[in-house]
Amino acid sequence: MLIFKGVESAHWTNRTENYTFTLLIFKKSMYVLGIETSCDETGIAIYHSEHGLIHHLLYSQIDMHSQYGGVVPELASRDHIRKCVPLIKQCLRESQLTSGDINGIAYTAGPGLMGALLVGAATARSLAWAWNVPAIAVHHMEGHLLAPMLEENPPAFPFVALLISGGHTLLVEVDGIGRYQALGESLDDAAGEAFDKTAKMLGLGYPGGPKLSALAEHGINRFKFPRPMTDRPGLDFSFSGLKTFTMNTINATEKTEQDKADVALAFQEAVADTLTIKCRRALQQTGLKSLIVAGGVAANKQIRTALTEMVAKENAQIYYPRLQFCTDNGAMIAYAGCQRLMAGQQEGLSIVARPRWAMSELSGCYFKK
Ligand code: KG4
Ligand code: ZN
Repeated sequence: MLIFKGVESAHWTNRTENYTFTLLIFKKSMYVLGIETSCDETGIAIYHSEHGLIHHLLYSQIDMHSQYGGVVPELASRDHIRKCVPLIKQCLRESQLTSGDINGIAYTAGPGLMGALLVGAATARSLAWAWNVPAIAVHHMEGHLLAPMLEENPPAFPFVALLISGGHTLLVEVDGIGRYQALGESLDDAAGEAFDKTAKMLGLGYPGGPKLSALAEHGINRFKFPRPMTDRPGLDFSFSGLKTFTMNTINATEKTEQDKADVALAFQEAVADTLTIKCRRALQQTGLKSLIVAGGVAANKQIRTALTEMVAKENAQIYYPRLQFCTDNGAMIAYAGCQRLMAGQQEGLSIVARPRWAMSELSGCYFKK
């Protein structure tokens, strides 16, 4: 029996050599500290199981990486080391809480950059040990998926989730927390990756998505780009052909500022349209009437508008996280971790960092093809 501070009753089950532990926690409410360090943002938050989000802080490394045109993994890790503990202290102070108030720690264990993940994982595990509280490894995409739950009118289960980030494009049927059925995914580039690569082709800096989107605002509608994989059944995506089409179009122009803006608009419209067609199909196929859209690309205005219009025609509801919780943040990790800790989950004491971690490997998640 292992008893954590603040936990009324606990029960360890050691499922032999691989040290998988099940901990049953009988606790009515808890403060959870969330730590996100999977890529280029240090996100720290405190979430309370009854009072909701208490506070969150974000430090973005964009200025540092932009001089290199993209994320430099080693610099990212070092910067997380500099920022992680000071931000935790600041978050506690500004929440008027102390370490003694924290009942659990949630950290992003993957997927992401190995060095960056290790900073958050090692910090979380060490603090959990020192503060005598449980820690939980959170899947970054589950964090994104649950981010709309932080809003005032959260969606009710079940719903369809479109997750569009820098590394993933996923359509998931969500029946409850931890009950996920992947309906479709990108077979090559993720939506955010396609934005970033296209932005690079257009000579825009890092981060590409928001820059391409800003340029597209000056675009004139004169190119028609393909909507990949929409003319055949299924809910998978492919964006690499669109990238090549974009490259060929750029090369066929004189590359004036107007040409670039027009290409940016056509590209963005093609992605928005493709996502919309697949989401409509997912709603029709599942018969569900709620769509949530999350991940960095969900911050894109044109994509939000296209999806909102489609959902209205389907007599369905759409839910987004607020803009700052579309991109990486600590609040979504604190929330996801809190739900899992309240459900009695946590692993052993080892530091878990999984740069590659398919969502289908999460317990309770399976693929429906
Ligand atoms: O979720 P996120 O912050 O990090 C990952 O988990 O990958 O997503 C980052 C991605 C990047 O590819 C970025 O270019 C894209 O989201 N992004 C956008 C916009 N804001 C961020 N893409 C299109 N339009 C935007 N406004
Ligand atoms: Zn992310």
